[in-house]
Amino acid sequence: MENKFLIDVNIALDILLDRLDASPRTYELFQRLKSLPTIYLSTSQLHTIAFIFFKEGKKSRPSYILQKEWQLFLKLFTLIKTPACLDTNDPLFQRDTGAYLIEASAKVVGAKIITRDTAFLRASGHAVSIDDFLSLPVQKEKNVAFLDLKAINQAHASGLERAFDEVLHSGWYIQGQQVKAFETEFAAYCGTPFCIGVANGLDALTLTLRAWKEMGRLKEGDKILVPANTYIASVLAITENRMIPVLVEPDPATFNISPSEILKSLDSKTKAILPVHLYGQMADMSAIMDIAKKHDLLVLEDAAQAHGAFICGKKAGSWGHAAGFSFYPGKNLGALGDAGAVTTLDEELALTIRALGNYGSHKKYENLYQGVNSRLDEMQAALLRVKLPHLDRDIEKRQAVARQYMEGLTHPDILLPAWKGDASHVFHLFVLRCRKRDALQAYLAEKGIQTLIHYPIPPHRQNAYGAWNGMELPLTEQIHKEVLSLPMGPTIPDAEVFEVIKGLNEFN
Ligand SMILES: Cc1ncc(COP(=O)(O)O)c(C=O)c1O
Repeated sequence: MENKFLIDVNIALDILLDRLDASPRTYELFQRLKSLPTIYLSTSQLHTIAFIFFKEGKKSRPSYILQKEWQLFLKLFTLIKTPACLDTNDPLFQRDTGAYLIEASAKVVGAKIITRDTAFLRASGHAVSIDDFLSLPVQKEKNVAFLDLKAINQAHASGLERAFDEVLHSGWYIQGQQVKAFETEFAAYCGTPFCIGVANGLDALTLTLRAWKEMGRLKEGDKILVPANTYIASVLAITENRMIPVLVEPDPATFNISPSEILKSLDSKTKAILPVHLYGQMADMSAIMDIAKKHDLLVLEDAAQAHGAFICGKKAGSWGHAAGFSFYPGKNLGALGDAGAVTTLDEELALTIRALGNYGSHKKYENLYQGVNSRLDEMQAALLRVKLPHLDRDIEKRQAVARQYMEGLTHPDILLPAWKGDASHVFHLFVLRCRKRDALQAYLAEKGIQTLIHYPIPPHRQNAYGAWNGMELPLTEQIHKEVLSLPMGPTIPDAEVFEVIKGLNEFN
């Protein structure tokens, strides 16, 4: 049986009005509910619950106590909005509209409704009695998920729903006020004058390189230095523009592109560097920018995993001549679909990218370039605006989890990430190294702990780049054999972090 339940008004009031002692079954129910990860409540019930609670409560308690109790009560639940669409032909709607609205909310999340109302039990196929609920087998220990995206977005549910409603009812879905506002807010967050919303992180990188071609700063056949151990998107952006990626071995401690290896890889055809802030840790941007200045190179940061990271007070995305961001749902700042952006200090570049992403048009029905359609849409921009103000708090939580791992993981076969404990790493991923990686991953899976590998095959060993398959990049290949990403995120409970630490330390 799925772990999803929504409680009816009568049970909510038992909890709120301290009527749990009245029946041992209700007390038992409350104890069992508390062990569930989520208990749902329909917004359609709230006014009734509030009305009765405050009316009854006033008889015995002062209003400030009632307010406090109400806030504590709400914290126990995840509120589910009542859908706007009503099926007036539904027999339950005709018999009991209140029950119909509760059922409609429960259906949104696939939950059963626990109720004491016998008429509701008879009328709804989604309602269960307290006895039925208590007779269900107790769920075995929950597994530790690698990333709980539902919990991450649930934390912003009311804001996201409001933003969705606003966009829905605005009648304006492409290139409107939401995108404009998000671009301004994200540019301010990164400390750059310009931000251009695009459809995804890959397009952010591809369109920037393309724009530099249109501006005469780069041309086909130019060499671009890129870390060999990156996600393939960084390399795809280069080859899509018919430029030549020069795969550079990383710094073995940070896994980021190594400035000394950059210097070894330079030649007269090298025109740009594409450093990737891998796993959320910033590359050595100060050294990279010095090299770029000395050799007249452009720098495009791949900041897809590093929103909010900074070195010397300067954020990822504001060091290079431009930066590409991804707002893929699993990223530290994630949309509810695909989305991306470019940040830059260069107005001409910003205008060129904007035109290229809009069919090459800088002015309605006039096309300067043979462009593409790659735009951030109003819905994703509005949703991102809800989450952006909470990004720093989420990063702090990720760093706190990382600190727990760094202090708690003591297994001698494990190499922890190199982190100074500062803001240069926002822990999009917590990646350790272990020579027995595959055995460790299987062992953790056996314990119900989900881990992932970022990434199992480096770009030069992919079929997509068959001509490079024979290339030897020993450090990159070794890293790909040894890395393992542990559960990480802003909502991961401490108990789960301890479970991972304990499980991992006991590995043999
Ligand atoms: C380092 C890096 N660059 C670029 C991208 C591409 O971003 P998107 O998935 O939004 O296209 C990703 C996404 O996974 C990434 O991790």
